Amino acid sequence: MKILKTPDYYHMSRVAANILSAQVIMKPDCVLGLATGSTPIGAYEQLCRWYEKGDIDFSQVKSVNLDEYRGLSPDNSQSYRYFMEKHLFSHINIKPENTHIPNGLEPDSEKACLQYNQIIHELGGIDLQLLGLGHNGHIGFNEPGAAFEKETHCVNLTAATIAANSRFFASSGEVPTQAYTMGIKAIMQARKILMIVSGADKAQIVKDAFFGPITPKVPASVLQLHNDVTLVGDEEALALIPDNAF
Ligand code: GLP
Repeated sequence: MKILKTPDYYHMSRVAANILSAQVIMKPDCVLGLATGSTPIGAYEQLCRWYEKGDIDFSQVKSVNLDEYRGLSPDNSQSYRYFMEKHLFSHINIKPENTHIPNGLEPDSEKACLQYNQIIHELGGIDLQLLGLGHNGHIGFNEPGAAFEKETHCVNLTAATIAANSRFFASSGEVPTQAYTMGIKAIMQARKILMIVSGADKAQIVKDAFFGPITPKVPASVLQLHNDVTLVGDEEALALIPDNAF
């Protein structure tokens, strides 16, 4: 694993955007696994700027997002489809038909998950998967206890995740209680993983995930078994990482 420490959120975002853009330059028709949450917003902003300058071309890129709330429509401002359009897709030349996110409006969860697995398989897997990190160690919406071998599945969100994500909703009662998420298996099959972390509130879980035991209690800890992981974090989020890890 490679760990890159940056002074702050802005520089973390620039390093992450550089890694994403290098992937697109090296393989213009690559499959990017994309993430939501507050952490990737800065990296997406940077990519939009480079696109405007003519430095990156997304015309052949395909994307698969990690997750979507079950029951939210694409035009609901809290859906992850809406998030991706707002922060990235509507500003760059990625083709709409090449962007994939689980269908939150599909009531049949088995069907929604099978369809999404099929999309990932037909694309030939993910070249670079971007990940944020939940405070309880979740990746995508693979909550503690999630089986490592699962593909796309429907999850019941934990009370901690509902509470953490309620900051984006008018009240915690409005946060959906379920989501469709890419499973750990698909994430682990990505050829490269890029995790970004920012802020002091992530320091303990970053340490647990990368320097603690590999356990479904901390879903991100499985990444210790992946052979191409880059962790980019600001000083606060990496504060508890031993010095000899860099
Ligand atoms: C959500 C998303 C995750 C994300 C996590 C962390 O729960 N499903 O993919 O990593 O939030 O969010 P933040 O980056 O806002 O801390």
